Amino acid sequence: MSFIYRYVIRLIVFRLPPEVSHRFAVVSFRFRPIWKLFGIISRPSGGDHRTVLSGIEIPNPVGIAAGFDKDCEVLGSLQDVGFGYVVGGTITLDARPGNPKPRMLRKSKDGALVNALGFPGHGLEPARSRLAKLSPAAARRTLISISGTEDDPIRECLIALEPLVAGIEVNISSPNTAGLAVFQEPVRLKQLLDTLVSSKSKPLFVKMPRLSDTGAFLELIQAAHESGADGFVVANTLPIEHQGLAVGKGGLSGKPLLKSTIELVGQARNHLGDGPTVIGCGGISNAEDARVVMEAGADAIQIYTALVYEGPGVASAISRGLRSGS
Ligand SMILES: Cc1cc2nc3c(=O)[nH]c(=O)nc-3n(C[C@H](O)[C@H](O)[C@H](O)COP(=O)(O)O)c2cc1C
Repeated sequence: MSFIYRYVIRLIVFRLPPEVSHRFAVVSFRFRPIWKLFGIISRPSGGDHRTVLSGIEIPNPVGIAAGFDKDCEVLGSLQDVGFGYVVGGTITLDARPGNPKPRMLRKSKDGALVNALGFPGHGLEPARSRLAKLSPAAARRTLISISGTEDDPIRECLIALEPLVAGIEVNISSPNTAGLAVFQEPVRLKQLLDTLVSSKSKPLFVKMPRLSDTGAFLELIQAAHESGADGFVVANTLPIEHQGLAVGKGGLSGKPLLKSTIELVGQARNHLGDGPTVIGCGGISNAEDARVVMEAGADAIQIYTALVYEGPGVASAISRGLRSGS
């Protein structure tokens, strides 16, 4: 199946501008019966690869990362094709247009993307009404990514969405949103998390920035840990400059990130010890990558760019490979 995607479907889809093909992919995921059937055909034999993330039970440790289904339109289909859990969003309180276009590019030779989307989205209310329609079984393996540039709107998103899902991921690390970087300062992050932790009743994960300064990275992790965060997603895209983007800079995702993901996951795990959840994210495109990230200390993984390059069978392929140890 991945052969058909790579040599037929991808050739056609990659003729479209990246944002158009992303929209095409999301719309195609609306035809749920097709994806249910696809999931049955591609499901790993030998049963599930049960994993528990801060008390959340999931059938396998492969998740779709935040940003693919920004407005929570097709989370059920993503579970159908084999993702053990899904992260919808990032949701912000109000609708946002995002940054000017072009704001998404492919670097096909590298298996990478560069984006400077800047959280375009419909805002809290449409997400809330879509999430309210998830079946209880689907909601139990759904996380929602929320963000903003001030504490109160983020808290409002948590209070509104947490009852509908299994847990919340707070995104302090998108390189494309003016004002978000304030939460990459440990004292400021602690203030935000103190507010969120006092309002939460389910697991809260922090999506970390991809910092090259180990001391700064661990200081941020420590601040979040002390405030009561249950786990960490390590990590978001790598900030880079790119003249092909209207705003001149964005976040690199995909294969070039794998090495730094392994290093950051190892640092986070060594620092935190066995307790808190660590989820590896960035540059994972097959079972071998996933295995190395989990050996470095991750309890689970998330992928985004691999779905674009490898197609909808990638989640099942990775969980099958992890199970069989190949
Ligand atoms: C087009 C695009 C949009 C993204 N949007 C978000 C987002 O809204 N929130 C977020 O936390 N991460 C977002 N990300 C980052 C991904 O969730 C992930 O952290 C990153 O792409 C690294 O994983 P990958 O190499 O498997 O793609 C986005 C990534 C891409 C490529």
